[in-house]
Amino acid sequence: MAELLAKTDKRTKYCGEFTKADIGNEVCVMGWAQKQRDLGKLIFIDLRDRTGIVQLAFDSDSNKEAFEKAFTVRSEYVLCAKGTVRAREEGAINKDRATGEIEIFVKELKILSASQTPPFEIVENSNVKTELRLKHRYLDLRRPDMMNNILMRSKIAKIVRDYYAENGFVEIETPNLIKPTPEGARDYLVPSRVHPGKFYALPQSPQLYKQILMLSGFDRYVQLARCYRDEDLRADRQPEFTQIDLEMSFVTEDDVMAINEGFLKRVFKDFLGKDIETPIQRMTYAEAMDRFGSDKPDLRFGFELKNITDIVKNTEFRVFKGAIEMGGSIRAINVKGGAKFSRKEIDALGEFVKTYRAKGLAWAKNTEGEISSSYAKFLTEDENKAIYEAMGFEKGDLLCIVADKDNVVFDSLGALRCEVAKKMGLCDPMDFKLLWVTEFPLFEYDEEEGRYYAKHHPFTSPMDEDLPLMDTDPSKVRAKAYDMVINGMEAGGGSIRIHNPEIQWKMFNVLGLTKEEAEEKFGFLLEAFKYGTPPHGGLAFGFDRLCTLLLGLDDIRNVIAFPKVQNATELMTECPNYPEAKALEELKIKAYTEE
Ligand code: AMO
Ligand code: AMP
Repeated sequence: MAELLAKTDKRTKYCGEFTKADIGNEVCVMGWAQKQRDLGKLIFIDLRDRTGIVQLAFDSDSNKEAFEKAFTVRSEYVLCAKGTVRAREEGAINKDRATGEIEIFVKELKILSASQTPPFEIVENSNVKTELRLKHRYLDLRRPDMMNNILMRSKIAKIVRDYYAENGFVEIETPNLIKPTPEGARDYLVPSRVHPGKFYALPQSPQLYKQILMLSGFDRYVQLARCYRDEDLRADRQPEFTQIDLEMSFVTEDDVMAINEGFLKRVFKDFLGKDIETPIQRMTYAEAMDRFGSDKPDLRFGFELKNITDIVKNTEFRVFKGAIEMGGSIRAINVKGGAKFSRKEIDALGEFVKTYRAKGLAWAKNTEGEISSSYAKFLTEDENKAIYEAMGFEKGDLLCIVADKDNVVFDSLGALRCEVAKKMGLCDPMDFKLLWVTEFPLFEYDEEEGRYYAKHHPFTSPMDEDLPLMDTDPSKVRAKAYDMVINGMEAGGGSIRIHNPEIQWKMFNVLGLTKEEAEEKFGFLLEAFKYGTPPHGGLAFGFDRLCTLLLGLDDIRNVIAFPKVQNATELMTECPNYPEAKALEELKIKAYTEE
């Protein structure tokens, strides 16, 4: 049934591009049949391509052959149609469609390809199950909203390339088969055939290469870089993803932030027509934690955390007393207008904080001046009053309190404020609040392993004034690191790097690396640093995340053509899969297979 495309079959333009100005023209269009309507002596077909839909009209009297073929057309058939553009009759005009005033009266039709009935309809906003969509991703991508996401991603990539090129950045590709140098997440490993037993790693980011490029003198580097991290998937995380990765020489934090603010300003203006105010607001990590319980605070709503430990420091209430005794704190948020939450909903919030290791949620709600509470009876009248005053607790409010170790209090209340804001409809995805979070701790202490980890990566520079603390109290050292946070999402992050070998050794020392281990892992970098290293720093934006934000979406899979699902499989091709026995033999690898 498939007919061939002749050399003379040349498309005039895309389906969505026809207007009244084309009336009278002889044209040729190609695309997919969205829908065929048979009205007896007339047949209409909606023809779709990546730009939109145009209506084809067939008439049995004037064009029998084309009409008879049109009769057999079903959804998703691929067609080539030649005919004349004509105005639609008055009553047939479709105001909702760009091409709604015209149609193409077809004289010649070719069915280039037939189609089985698709497993779901190719329409916008389909609520088909994700698994089915991903299994037939080629059809899912045909849906106008998904098609648009991918087209917009390409448009954003163009803005990225233009902006950084205009600002003197050189695009350089770094390798994808690299030496395993873990950067926090687990590496994906690739076995070497030539060196049995040895492995390459796929890069978690081009970090070391971009630093080396600064050493070589490229001065400004940028790359849309694929990165690979074997970590648990979430709505904002994929095992392979793309960064806008960049590095600059002879710079301090302010220079890196300024260049990237310029980029954000440009992309928000060019893509959304929105003006971003610069300089973008900055907040230290310490302040972000204290006020929002998070290092990526969502500033679209209030509900800030307040420390009420002092007010209840003498209480006998078991829950609060216990938290104080273990060196923790008692903090609260006042959910303005939250009194409308039902008892059942508040109980659900209690369950919600438990998923962040809190033991419970103490609450009070003020309904029309009448206060009900889960904990007030355990406190004195003065204590209760002082809490209400400190929190600005008024009619219509809901007070939520967590008492625990600081990190649990921050995690749970930080997440709770976002959860209630979401429930109250305060998270308009097109209301953008941008923030730099600065002065991150350089190290993170892992209690279980009893050792320090680099919070960003081991090449991030400590703040000059905190250098002496490297020897005395590493946990207090702040880093020359910054994150770009947009609406509560970490959209990017970077740092000024260590370019002084002495400080680099100190860093390795705190991380518990011996000289030999450091040499083994990063010897090439340390060697390179001996030959004149410019001070340098950079940043990487999560490109998928940025696209998700700019498009007002909430799942990065919607801006990735072929994403993976939760358990890291790609449903369309069904990877990963077992390799052929011969391939393993050549690699001298014995694979584990589940029988
Ligand atoms: P970092 O690890 O913070 O920094 O990554 C930079 C940005 O990449 C995005 N990102 C991800 N996006 C999707 N899926 C993932 N699994 C994922 N992991 C990270 C985030 C993040 O802010 N080399 C440093 C950058 C530098 O210092 O210049 C780095 O990779 O938006
Ligand atoms: P109980 O005496 O266990 O019923 O606790 C009284 C109130 O304190 C209940 O509303 C609990 O949900 C709440 N609560 C329990 N543990 C905590 C905690 N760690 N922080 C805040 N509230 C808690």
